Amino acid sequence: MSLFDIKDKMDALVKELNQHSYNYYVLAMPTIADYEFDKKLEELSKLEKEHPEFADADSPTLKVGGEITKTFTTVKHRWPMLSLGNTYNEQDLRDFDERVRKTIGESFEYVCELKFDGLSISLTYEDTRLVRAVTRGDGTKGDDVTTNVKTINNIPHKLKNEEVPPLFEIRGEIFMHRAAFERLNKEREELGEIQYANPRNFAAGTVKMQDSKEVARRPLDCFLYSLNTDKNYFKTHWESLQTLKSWGFNVSGNSKLAGSIDEVLVFIKQWETERFKLSYDIDGIVIKVNSYAQQQELGFTAKSPRWAISFKFKAEEVETILEKVTYQVGRTGAVTPVANLKPVQLAGTTVKRATLHNANEIERLDLYEGDSVFVEKGGEIIPKIINVNMDKRKAGALKIIYPTVCPECQSELIRKEGEVAFYCPNDEACPPQIVGKIQHFIGRKAMNIDGLGDETIETFYQKGLVKHISDLYTLHEKAEELKTLERFGERSIENMLKGIEQSKQMPFEKVLFGLGIRYVGETVAKKLAFGTKNIDKLSIASLEELTAIDEIGQRIAESIIEYFGNPEHLHQIGLLKSYGLQFEAIENEIALQSDKLTGKTFVISGVFENYSREELKDLIESNGGKILSGISAKLNYLLAGDNMGPSKLDKAKKLNIPLIAEGDLLEMLK
Ligand code: IVH
Repeated sequence: MSLFDIKDKMDALVKELNQHSYNYYVLAMPTIADYEFDKKLEELSKLEKEHPEFADADSPTLKVGGEITKTFTTVKHRWPMLSLGNTYNEQDLRDFDERVRKTIGESFEYVCELKFDGLSISLTYEDTRLVRAVTRGDGTKGDDVTTNVKTINNIPHKLKNEEVPPLFEIRGEIFMHRAAFERLNKEREELGEIQYANPRNFAAGTVKMQDSKEVARRPLDCFLYSLNTDKNYFKTHWESLQTLKSWGFNVSGNSKLAGSIDEVLVFIKQWETERFKLSYDIDGIVIKVNSYAQQQELGFTAKSPRWAISFKFKAEEVETILEKVTYQVGRTGAVTPVANLKPVQLAGTTVKRATLHNANEIERLDLYEGDSVFVEKGGEIIPKIINVNMDKRKAGALKIIYPTVCPECQSELIRKEGEVAFYCPNDEACPPQIVGKIQHFIGRKAMNIDGLGDETIETFYQKGLVKHISDLYTLHEKAEELKTLERFGERSIENMLKGIEQSKQMPFEKVLFGLGIRYVGETVAKKLAFGTKNIDKLSIASLEELTAIDEIGQRIAESIIEYFGNPEHLHQIGLLKSYGLQFEAIENEIALQSDKLTGKTFVISGVFENYSREELKDLIESNGGKILSGISAKLNYLLAGDNMGPSKLDKAKKLNIPLIAEGDLLEMLK
């Protein structure tokens, strides 16, 4: 192969693997078998070693400990996890009822339940303890995701009640509340990361993550809805639901007994509208015959029970006119197209706008001005344009073309390789970027400045009072000018100035996060602050030094180097320093418990049984050992847990680095 061919091959692998992991994590629609994925990843990793000059900053081999290099142990289900037949209208449902009555006669009840829109999970309890959590998989076998599921608060690890069957399996649905989804997705947007399409995909992506710490950070919830045991302990499904509740399981309070299919239909009608008042998504109603004896009589088809069925809600869809497409510039400069619609009622709210995500989406829809479009609010929170009603396209309508220059400052837009978004590179003078950056700085998670809000920043910017973050700290000199602003009383000015003054005491990691460096979120800011100790060291750190810090990969490191390579940024930091902001990390020195590991280096990878990675790190450091971020010839030990990434393993083997387990580490400390 010529060098050109090799580079092409590597580029193609990066692109392909990133697409697969996007399909897997974001869309929750895997497009490749795990094994194939790992093989391709290995191939790429090998090529990168042979030709580091062609290695791509966006390579999936760099994304350790988080998203991709993932394999789970496959576990066979003791009782297969079947699916449900679907119905979409009243007639289908009456047909189902007819079939049921033919087999079991007229005397029976239904249980109506909400159909939670998440991913199903099977939990095994032995002697009151949760021993295993397995995904549905293909229905016969699924992935063992116990460690991740244990981070979900309302799934008990041990039951208080000793009177439960010695072995049972309980099934339910893991999901994410809409509010948490929106908050986390917004965080991802701010960090320039890909956003999840809906709470279900976010929940599914989370349960399949390698890093249980990250899973714990993402609030998941779970409703349980069925019980499997070897013996029959109960006569009816309803009775078992009530009992599960008394054992400490989170069982929905919204289920209902129904005496006839007409009562079921009333329940469905009720939830068709009330579902929008829930804090989570449901996509339908599940109807189950209550008596276990009757369930047995009805039996199963190859795929699903004959005693249960689901009624799926229609994703609400309306047709309206696309008035125009506008482009929003975010604080990172990403330019997002927004469809402005003729206002229309949809799923209980008036919809005026729909997201168009990026330039590719405009292309996909092939949009023209004035098009009549179908808008849907299904699993997605933000309304989405599904397609165009071509019959109504007006002759001579103009095609919508994504701009080549920034709509706010006319700078030429750029698109980084491997990314879908276009960016405005003019971060120093593009108004929404400046305002957005200052708003980010004062935000709750950054400097949390009392008495200052987003709108105030907008006004200050328009009046020429602030152009940089540092201008906030000279506002006290402009008190007279502030008083002339509308809605600005003496009291509120005083409050604001006090808030600004107090923010000077915020710790370095908050200041660093507040600066809004691309890819530097809250956690990364902390790692950087404590990893480099102060801004002077951080600003001159090399790529190697940065990537040696725990959790800092190449992409983040490059972004930091780029940020500090800009003299304007250094000037601003100089000003902030002179105003008294904190640029030194204050960390409680680790008290050395022993020096048993002095001079030894470790990399921690995978998921462990008894300790979290953070705990292991503390344990190593407090005994004098050092944690390295990547595997190199310098490394002494690889502390390997379950589900370690294959590329790491591969690298360690090649370099002959000893693999040790949790227990070996404890032995070393004895
Ligand atoms: S009972 C034999 N009850 O819907 C199948 N499933 O389409 C027993 N689901 O795989 C499933 N809410 O993931 C049942 N209240 C509920 C449910 C529910 C959501 C999901 C579940 C199942 C899928 C079937």
